[in-house]
Amino acid sequence: MRKKIVAGNWKMNTTVPEGVELAKAVVELSGKADESVQLIVAAPFTHLCPLAEVLKGTRVALSAENCADKEKGAYTGEVSAAMLASAGCGYTILGHSERRQYYGETDAKLVEKTRLALANGLKVILCVGENLEEREAGKHFDVVEAQIKNVLFNFSAEELKEIVIAYEPVWAIGTGKTATAEQAQEIHAFIRKTVAAKFGAQAAEDTSILYGGSCKPSNAAELFACPDIDGGLIGGAALKAEDFIAIACSY
Ligand code: PGA
Repeated sequence: MRKKIVAGNWKMNTTVPEGVELAKAVVELSGKADESVQLIVAAPFTHLCPLAEVLKGTRVALSAENCADKEKGAYTGEVSAAMLASAGCGYTILGHSERRQYYGETDAKLVEKTRLALANGLKVILCVGENLEEREAGKHFDVVEAQIKNVLFNFSAEELKEIVIAYEPVWAIGTGKTATAEQAQEIHAFIRKTVAAKFGAQAAEDTSILYGGSCKPSNAAELFACPDIDGGLIGGAALKAEDFIAIACSY
């Protein structure tokens, strides 16, 4: 059975003390969400050690937002998967569209990052999604299929168990414009079919596929009711503990 997941992606927001307060508030409210929902917060590197302390023994897992595509060594400014694991992370987001768009993250780099994350015991939240131009040109299925094939297809069915897919249409991120439940369900089903073609029907059934892009308390229930949407990757609304938990309560 695949997991329901609601993950907050804080991006480059909050100072360390603010992040600690936000995490404490999430923990405090976390009991409201159904036990079957895995809660995750993804925070900046500077926040991970103090947050690991706050989240220890709670139902809220800790994630990074990125990791290096190299194991270790002379890569100034980078943070390795081993470092993340040692800081107390259970997950890392990889391939977020903001990293693809602003920091030259390629599918080839994502294969390396995913490989290193898994080798260090981290679960991966792998992001895919098309931009507005691609959507308007009707290329969204092709774009997402290529992202899945270029990255995910390099791994085994066993490794797939440690990977969560997040579909995030770039045009819906931070814009207030959400994909309709029908649009989201259509592409989630397509992603599951693509995964099934390579890894088999059961492996695809067991893979959690999250929706991201202006997900908020007012639209989460409709999205989460779709059969192939297994939760959300939440940006802006994750910066308020009440909203984040209200989304988690939409199941
Ligand atoms: P948003 O961001 O919820 O602010 O649109 C989602 C994301 O980028 O993960």
